[in-house]
Amino acid sequence: MDFRGRVFLAPLTKGGTLPFRRLCLAHGGEVTMGEMAYAYQVVKRSKSELALLRKHDEETCFGAQIAASRIDDAVRAGNAAAERGAKWVDLNCGCPIHDIVKRRMGATLLRKPHKLARLVEGMVEGIEVPVTVKIRLGWSEDEYNASEVARVCEEAGARAVGIHGRTREQRYTRAADWDEIGKVACERSIPVIGNGDLLTWFETHDRWQQSGVASVMIGRGALIKPWIFREIAEKQAWEPDARERLGVYFDFAGKMKEHFRDDEKGKERAMRFLPWHLGFFCRYRPLSGERWEAASREHPLIQTRMPDEASELSLLERLLRDPRKELHERLADVLWSSTDLDEAEAGAAALAGAMPPEAGDAGEVATAHG
Ligand SMILES: Cc1cc2nc3c(=O)[nH]c(=O)nc-3n(C[C@H](O)[C@H](O)[C@H](O)COP(=O)(O)O)c2cc1C
Repeated sequence: MDFRGRVFLAPLTKGGTLPFRRLCLAHGGEVTMGEMAYAYQVVKRSKSELALLRKHDEETCFGAQIAASRIDDAVRAGNAAAERGAKWVDLNCGCPIHDIVKRRMGATLLRKPHKLARLVEGMVEGIEVPVTVKIRLGWSEDEYNASEVARVCEEAGARAVGIHGRTREQRYTRAADWDEIGKVACERSIPVIGNGDLLTWFETHDRWQQSGVASVMIGRGALIKPWIFREIAEKQAWEPDARERLGVYFDFAGKMKEHFRDDEKGKERAMRFLPWHLGFFCRYRPLSGERWEAASREHPLIQTRMPDEASELSLLERLLRDPRKELHERLADVLWSSTDLDEAEAGAAALAGAMPPEAGDAGEVATAHG
């Protein structure tokens, strides 16, 4: 596995299911990562946790991510992932949520570089595939320590370090700090994978070049438009109209049917995910380089509120941009029950008639999650 010159799909709990990863591959993605799995649950052979390590045959470059605090658990879970085809195992060292932090996993490890060093060393020794670590810039703005954490990881034998350019406490409130990511990339000889706020091909190439990172990683940008991978590869935007986007979402529903099965139980499982995804898809806006490139250097577009030129939008376009949860549930149902794209479009049109946009919806719409 070469960690240089690649565009990674970020590990995304709830979002990075096998059907979604296949959707990214269908649109130019190459390197996929699984949702974070608790190592101690994998060791207990929890079915739901083992399912997170499963990859599709199409995923020829798949990495599994685990959350761990004990070497023994991490090694056993890492090898379980390798047996299932993971090309590498990533240690989560950035997850901010309370349940993880309380169990001394995720972002807590940023505050314990010595413990982290021992954990990574143990993993490198015991796991049969390369080990990487995904970190943040630090716990808080007063505790920026990515330089030290990345050094410790390299010395412990990690093959690459991914850096999400924010602290644990910032969550998504600030723009990712690519200067700081670049500083760490300069200091290290292992590849650094830069991550944070990449929504367009021009922002991706700009941050990639400016920072000097070896590779980049995309999270919410892929959840909003899974075709971002092709855009980055081709250095040009694909601006699908509403029907083309509906086609992508219909295809996604088909991949969910293959994975969860096309029956009532499968539908029930898929409906935990499909409406949630529509909550990201609805944030899509065409962002041409001519109009937005200069502005994006000042402030990342994923954090920017875009005016919606509502009067010029077709009914289907307005429907796909609608942020209402209830509508996402009903649209997910349409996508699931349709047998082809024409039927899905007719169902969506009927839905648009039944649920016209509420007053105020046509105003400013955020492209960002959080
Ligand atoms: C819905 C969601 C789920 C996430 N789950 C994980 C996860 O399981 N493991 C992880 O390391 N990071 C996780 N992250 C963080 C992303 O991998 C990524 O570091 C972060 O979103 C910044 O990248 P972006 O600006 O491209 O979204 C998650 C982010 C989102 C939005």
